[in-house]
Amino acid sequence: MREFRIAPSILSADFARLGEEVRDVIAAGADWIHFDVMDNHYVPNLTIGPCVLKSIRPCTKADIDVHLMIEPVDDLVPAFARAGADWITFHAEATRHIDRTLQLIRDSGAKPGIVLNPATPLCCLDYVLDKTDMILLMSVNPGFGGQKFIPPTLGKLRAVRALVDRHFDETGHRIRVEVDGGVKAENIGDIARAGADTFVAGSAIFGKKSPEGYREVIGLMRSELEAAGHAEER
Ligand code: DX5
Ligand code: ZN
Repeated sequence: MREFRIAPSILSADFARLGEEVRDVIAAGADWIHFDVMDNHYVPNLTIGPCVLKSIRPCTKADIDVHLMIEPVDDLVPAFARAGADWITFHAEATRHIDRTLQLIRDSGAKPGIVLNPATPLCCLDYVLDKTDMILLMSVNPGFGGQKFIPPTLGKLRAVRALVDRHFDETGHRIRVEVDGGVKAENIGDIARAGADTFVAGSAIFGKKSPEGYREVIGLMRSELEAAGHAEER
């Protein structure tokens, strides 16, 4: 059975109490923290940077998954790695040299991943799978939380799952498949069955506004994932 990871996006958290929100959501059963970085250039919104990452780093031992929606990418990679990122992902269109950026992230001490927007084809993954630890498929256009899941992402997920499974059979190198945007308890089962193993959810979790609410929705997501995992085994 695939190892599923639930990664709440703190974009929808209460920024005035960010450390507490991080502790609460992990205590409520989440696996990772998803950290959205936007620059008002690559995407039309502006969020948080390495200083904020450094401040929340001591709040949890869980992996912090830094999603860079910035252009250019390379200048800021070492700063996010030093601030404590476990994973750093970047958009294929935001760098001129995908192979170089993947290597730079690895050399900085984090695990590298490539992000594909809803309309980005899979061909940019050719020739770099060996350097990639995660493929993140956007299921909304990047820039904002609270948008609706774009359905053709499911077909794309099936294609990426086939690609990474074939790569694993050939090399023994496992690549995570993450999905980001519009993920909720109602659709997480279908998304898992299509091939994802790592699930970002912002508004669906932090929209609940309380640690009890976080626990409830993460529990629901977990049981949907379990059902999807068992269905796959049959
Ligand atoms: C969107 C961000 C997402 C966002 C997800 O550009 O990358 O991580 O916070 O939020 P929801 O789960 O509300 O779609
Ligand atoms: Zn994100």
